[in-house]
Amino acid sequence: MNYCASTPRRDEVIGPARRLRGVLQLAGDKSISHRYAMLAAVAEGESRIENYSTGADCQSTLSCLEALGVDIRREPDAVVIVGRGLEGWRAPEQTLDAGNSGSTMRMLAGLLAGQRFASRIAGDASLSRRPMDRILKPLRQMGARIEARQERFPPLQIEGTRLSPIEYELPVPSAQVKSCILLAGLYAEGRTAVREPVPTRDHTEIALREFGAEIEQSGRTIQIQGRPLLKAQQLRVPGDLSSAAFFLAAALIVPDSAVLIQGVGLNPTRSALLDFLVGMGAEIRLENVSQRHGELVGDILARTSQLRGGVIEGGLTAALIDEIPVLAVLGALSREGLQVRDAAELRVKETDRIATVAENLRRLGARVEVFEDGFFVPGQQRFGAAELDSFGDHRIAMAFTVAALAAAGECVIRDAGAACVSFPEFFQRLEDLRAG
Ligand code: S3P
Repeated sequence: MNYCASTPRRDEVIGPARRLRGVLQLAGDKSISHRYAMLAAVAEGESRIENYSTGADCQSTLSCLEALGVDIRREPDAVVIVGRGLEGWRAPEQTLDAGNSGSTMRMLAGLLAGQRFASRIAGDASLSRRPMDRILKPLRQMGARIEARQERFPPLQIEGTRLSPIEYELPVPSAQVKSCILLAGLYAEGRTAVREPVPTRDHTEIALREFGAEIEQSGRTIQIQGRPLLKAQQLRVPGDLSSAAFFLAAALIVPDSAVLIQGVGLNPTRSALLDFLVGMGAEIRLENVSQRHGELVGDILARTSQLRGGVIEGGLTAALIDEIPVLAVLGALSREGLQVRDAAELRVKETDRIATVAENLRRLGARVEVFEDGFFVPGQQRFGAAELDSFGDHRIAMAFTVAALAAAGECVIRDAGAACVSFPEFFQRLEDLRAG
């Protein structure tokens, strides 16, 4: 059952905010939650995962794992997963449903490719338009028998088979594709190597190590030894930095604001966001930084700031890819604006985020120049009251709710309920900060 099914597609009316104040703790990081759940499911023994993401995407991963015969208990403060070992999954009776989640489909495909049974995995209308050829190619090189609609799109039909190790150079930076290959590498006899053009989030590598896999990194090449014995773990997922990003951004642009977010994941492959914001002139401070299960965790304090503007290009684009929609909003309110290049990947996210960001900025009365691989938002702009749309994309819903906080009048966000894909509590937490 899709977690979002009980939340009707709802609109939200967002008025300008006078100030935002408060202390927050956020549900677990979406990327890390997917990885912990999948690895727990192929480990030996019972894993307990605290602060698991509440978003629909991570619930899709759990439902797929259940359909593969994995026992999962949802306790009030943890998800308990009874691992069945690398060979213990059973053939699903129906098509696996990845919902809106690209991570679920791409990473699970890596694990399904090495099973002794056939499976089929599908997604919603948005996921059905997203490219899967990027995983088909390396998986087929490993010997996988995998088919996609028009050789490119979901659903995927996978006939599990014996996999061989490969050395693969990623043509586009993608942590999902890297992870898919590393997870398939668990089933290959020998060492599988992936080389990435620029570093992407390394949660899979860290989590694999925690569960006992042998994994090595030298430069931009990651190698995994196949057929390890993975052992169940007791884990706590750090708060989601990509969810925190919306409240950090809001605190920076709403007058008289101070927001403290505790226990957030600060993995260096994700926290380029904080350096970038500080570079824009943001008053952001880190406190209580420590390491847990190989991941950095800490508190982030953000206050109202004068923002200068900035440029996102090259490797930085990959490091900030999920935060670009909300950074575009900040760009329009900054002194010099925001330039984004090398971001063609934005066009194949939950929506074409270059198009949906530009459309909403224009509805707010802001100017934006669009390129094939990015956009330029001039600075020193004002937002008017407007009817905005999530276009069914969670990050667009939340980015433009942040914009509405700084608009001259009330804005409507159509299909704001899309936020529940990664952050069902978003609007409630925002209310708390407005009342704080
Ligand atoms: C993710 C990787 C990124 C990111 C997505 C989550 C992950 O996608 O946009 O939200 O958890 O590995 P790509 O790998 O397609 O760049």
